[in-house]
Amino acid sequence: MEITDVTDVDTDKPEEPPVSALFEPLTLRNVTFPNRVWMAPMCQYSADDSGEHVGVAADWHRTHLVSRAVGGAGLIITEATAVSPEGRISPSDLGIWNDAQADALAKIVAEISALGTVPGIQLAHAGRKASTAAPWLGGKSLPSDDPRSWETVGPSAVAFGDYATPREATAADITKIVDDFRTAAQRALKAGFQVAEIHGAHGYLLHQFLSPASNTRTDVYGGDFAGRTRLLIEVVDAVREVWPAELPVFVRLSATDWLDEPDSSDPTADRAERTAELEAASWTSGQTVALSQILTEHGVDLVDTSTGGNVRASIPVGPSYQVPFARRIQNETTMPAAAVGMITEPKQAEDIVSLGEATAVLLARELLRDPYWPRRAARELGVEMIPAVAPQYERAY
Ligand SMILES: Cc1cc2nc3c(=O)[nH]c(=O)nc-3n(C[C@H](O)[C@H](O)[C@H](O)COP(=O)(O)O)c2cc1C
Repeated sequence: MEITDVTDVDTDKPEEPPVSALFEPLTLRNVTFPNRVWMAPMCQYSADDSGEHVGVAADWHRTHLVSRAVGGAGLIITEATAVSPEGRISPSDLGIWNDAQADALAKIVAEISALGTVPGIQLAHAGRKASTAAPWLGGKSLPSDDPRSWETVGPSAVAFGDYATPREATAADITKIVDDFRTAAQRALKAGFQVAEIHGAHGYLLHQFLSPASNTRTDVYGGDFAGRTRLLIEVVDAVREVWPAELPVFVRLSATDWLDEPDSSDPTADRAERTAELEAASWTSGQTVALSQILTEHGVDLVDTSTGGNVRASIPVGPSYQVPFARRIQNETTMPAAAVGMITEPKQAEDIVSLGEATAVLLARELLRDPYWPRRAARELGVEMIPAVAPQYERAY
């Protein structure tokens, strides 16, 4: 009788690599993201602020973005890239309102794509928070006698804190803003981007229109929920007109202005009354949920869920503090949501995705500290990841 050595048999069996939700590829439309660790948009304030190269990506942008692709991010979203000169946050922001700007970005996009990372662009207009100095130069409104400053526009002549008071946008301004987003998307497509993210968060122009704290208009772009969401929806429709059906569109939203939302665990709070008061005064998580569902009908594929930035508020910042807002969108709508904000640990990120709290996570500052975070996370979680490491670095893995 033949005796089989069971130990031998067992050793021959290939070991199954541990399964990770974080490193599971994701397909939206025809784009497959190799993993769900994504790089959040981060302004670098490093483009020329005047002259012929204004808003053109510099060597710094290339180093900044490409090194995170070497580190294995599944998607890289450029910093807030202005759709018009007056839409810049600072004079040294990236822009995409001319061909020279698009051509410079195209070179970076090609490098990112060659490394297996999906290239995305955040299309932005800063509205009343435009014409400011870089953070390390104070971050405030540029004085009107500074030759690099410009007049800002907003939904209403209501300033953000001590910033300059904007001019209320006219109907012609609004038509131009929508056109600028459309043209910017066309240029982004030509540059090779595969994801267009519309910046509707952090108190910039589209968020300013959403929130009653900054939008006091009495025309069709203000007033009730339908009026305040109109501009964002028109921008989404304009971008979708030119962005191919095979490629995803994301919207970044600030889920709340953080004006003291009622505590859902407090049975004594008069939640309905308080919610109505808040909705009349600010942008809230309930309105974000309602808007997210509407955006599914306008061809948006994912809401990148951030918070704050439109009014001064006290924000309970801590690990995963914005995840509950992404979870609400995931649970209460058919819109996929990504989570961002103080996600720094591999196990934390893995749990967020594996529990379905978010479809993907975006990291910002942690990727500034460690461009190789995705590769480190995969090693810590014991999973093989894609994109594969560049062959030049294979001996280290
Ligand atoms: C240097 C820096 C620049 C940023 N610029 C942008 C930006 O251009 N667009 C945007 O939507 N958010 C921007 N943010 C916010 C980040 O995308 C992110 O939402 C925030 O930093 C929270 O994530 P974190 O805790 O991982 O840093 C920026 C953050 C930093 C630190």
